[in-house]
Amino acid sequence: MEQTDTIARDTARATETRKVFVKTYGCQMNVYDSQRMSDALAADGYEPTQTIEDADLVLLNTCHIREKAAEKVYSELGRIRDLKNERAAEGRQMVIGVTGCVAQAEGDEILRRAPAVDLVVGPQTYHRLPAVVRRARAGEKVIETDYAREDKFDHLPQPDRKIVRARGVTAFLTVQEGCDKFCTFCVVPYTRGSEISRPVAQIVREAERLVEGGVREITLLGQNVNAWHGEGVAKGGSTREWGLGELLFRLAQIPGLARLRYTTSHPRDMDDALIAAHRDLEQLMPYLHLPVQSGSDRILKAMNRKHTADDYLRLVDRIRGVRGDIAMSGDFIVGFPGETDEDFEATMKLVREVDYAQAFSFKYSARPGTPGAEMKFHVEERVKDERLQELQALLTNQLEAFTQSRVGMEMDTLIEKPGRRDGQIVGRSPWLQPVILDETVGRIGDIVRVKVLSAGRNSLFAEPV
Ligand code: 5AD
Ligand code: SF4
Repeated sequence: MEQTDTIARDTARATETRKVFVKTYGCQMNVYDSQRMSDALAADGYEPTQTIEDADLVLLNTCHIREKAAEKVYSELGRIRDLKNERAAEGRQMVIGVTGCVAQAEGDEILRRAPAVDLVVGPQTYHRLPAVVRRARAGEKVIETDYAREDKFDHLPQPDRKIVRARGVTAFLTVQEGCDKFCTFCVVPYTRGSEISRPVAQIVREAERLVEGGVREITLLGQNVNAWHGEGVAKGGSTREWGLGELLFRLAQIPGLARLRYTTSHPRDMDDALIAAHRDLEQLMPYLHLPVQSGSDRILKAMNRKHTADDYLRLVDRIRGVRGDIAMSGDFIVGFPGETDEDFEATMKLVREVDYAQAFSFKYSARPGTPGAEMKFHVEERVKDERLQELQALLTNQLEAFTQSRVGMEMDTLIEKPGRRDGQIVGRSPWLQPVILDETVGRIGDIVRVKVLSAGRNSLFAEPV
């Protein structure tokens, strides 16, 4: 049976290539998932296209974190429905799929609101996508939002070397999924499920394949990446429980892998080994995204963050104590239910104390099914707007000051891609800033030592030293 299936698939591959258009919303984990979905579909004869009009299959890989993100999907589905109808008039089929967190959270509600959709697949079942697409092509409406019992990563094919190369010299690698923290504002524990960590051997194999394909920098991903844990093997062959710190040490041994990053972390899961990795691993870049969400202990408690403002500040001090040049990045929510002017002031105070290099700030958005949505004293939209503006003005000042502080510095830059202007090439600083260089400086994938001559808002202009 399995063999017949393989033969049928190979024949399909030989005779027709179909095109898939994937649009990705939301976080980096969705970017990674979109690539893995494309890889799974490539084995079934689907080639990626950037032109939606050419697509036989359109996938929207969606985000549910805030209301705005989810609503964007429905307006896009309206536009795609018109395209589907135009194609149908020409006698051609266009299959429309919704994947990702909206798929998981809303399931068959999506088919009710957008009947042009043919398939809905949640993040835990991407490995079943080719089979689901085949059923949808045959006219069935398919919903797959169960939590699969099998490990999807065991069933997802790895991209071949050519595809890895085409994706560039930096890559994402999901090592952990889901979250058990249950912050009261957040849908993630419901859409992505409880925490799972991928096994060490699986991660190392995937990282090695990426490096063989020309990747120089890997960013390890997880909704709660520093909660990753797994069974590691010591030199003598004995096994021991590892955390993310130990995993980073292991990955740093892969020859040719020049840079490592990880995101997103929870303050409670920054353990000693991870802090030591920031001290001892030259491959680990001096940049840490460590969301705090609020500077008020009262609000942090209501958010169920499991840390105080002071815990966070002391943690930042410890990390800076071992890696003085680390750039701090964070996430903030303003207008959580019950947030007073005083609470907001505490957030501003914390931001001034930490002095962020980069930050993301949002107005609280009530998400159905989360405890926050049921809380009393929701903050007026106007007040949320004012607070967001004030916070963002401060964070922008800090970002610009951080960028300016790089002028005159010498640093390593990983060359990533051609620049927007002729004759330019763009690299990445250790602190994630784009570095604009003359194209003669090196080739994509090279790490070159440069001196920064001037800076824009977030980008640096440099020349080789
Ligand atoms: N409203 C606003 N922002 C939110 N985030 C998560 N849930 C919500 C919500 N309901 C923000 C948090 C998180 C980031 C990814 O999105 O700051 O760290
Ligand atoms: Fe959401 Fe909190 Fe988990 Fe982050 S740690 S994914 S904010 S519940």
